[in-house]
Amino acid sequence: MPGVTHGVGRAPANIALVKYWGKRDEELNLPVTGSLSISLGRLGSAVELKPTGGPTDAVWLNSAPLPLNSAFAKRASAYLDLFRPTPGHWYEVQARNTVPTAAGFASSASGFAALARALDDLYGWGLSTRELSILARLGSGSAARSLEHGFVEWQAGSEPDGMDCFAERVAAEWPALRVGALVLCSDEKPIGSREGMKRSVETCGFYREWPGRVAEDLALLKRAIAEKDFAALGAVAEANALAMHALMAATRPPIVYALPETVAAMRAVWAAREEGLGLWFTMDAGPNVKLLFDAQDEAAVRARFPAVQVVAPFA
Ligand code: PMV
Repeated sequence: MPGVTHGVGRAPANIALVKYWGKRDEELNLPVTGSLSISLGRLGSAVELKPTGGPTDAVWLNSAPLPLNSAFAKRASAYLDLFRPTPGHWYEVQARNTVPTAAGFASSASGFAALARALDDLYGWGLSTRELSILARLGSGSAARSLEHGFVEWQAGSEPDGMDCFAERVAAEWPALRVGALVLCSDEKPIGSREGMKRSVETCGFYREWPGRVAEDLALLKRAIAEKDFAALGAVAEANALAMHALMAATRPPIVYALPETVAAMRAVWAAREEGLGLWFTMDAGPNVKLLFDAQDEAAVRARFPAVQVVAPFA
């Protein structure tokens, strides 16, 4: 569009309560199953995008230029390849994460969702949230869930072109819901989710059980959300995360993200629950643990986990 020189976009990070693990199409990031997440309010990414003269893309993260061979810059450039009006049309990408990098929340989902919004703004496409979810998904599967706040359900869809594979907001507010990040290790993970889930689909003997399990868990989670039943929400989220980690462990060669500290945190959650505290956890493809609890229990949770970083998703 004449006169338009830059585009901006923002998006929240999200954490899945019923997980996505496995694709039916590697290129389009089409998942085998649906999934359902909670967005993390103000924690997320902001992206500013400008066409530049080149000779390459320039990618900045939190005001620092990134080497073009860094993982983030390579993924951003590969994603932008899908949208260049002509080959050799370069962009400057200024990305800012409001997810503290050490908080253990994935920033790739919010990063690609914010980049999709920035492209839409730059080119004046005026895309719907559903269309933006489809575009963000091409960068990272879980980015499909980062276009909305609150609870978000990503539909697996069945069309080969993925046009029915997008995420939408679940109509529910839950102001007392809290997510707590326990950062146990911030080293780079041994295997990324793209490679890990591919390996699980190909080699995990009981991957075939997973779609049925997810369908049941999605139904339970949606009922828990509709009825504001926190114990039911916590129970299904924790069980689903453990089932995903069991799939990972049964992959060949095995994928185990948990460290001794992860197992200790899980046991501490179970001990707290034995004593009557309403506390559950979830975990993604890494060793860090995310706690799920109600605002009324925040002091008790902080007493047990002094290093916890608390997020209020509906604040
Ligand atoms: O979107 P990806 O490729 O980063 O995969 C995300 C996978 C999990 O975080 C483990 C689960 C999920 O649903 O977010």
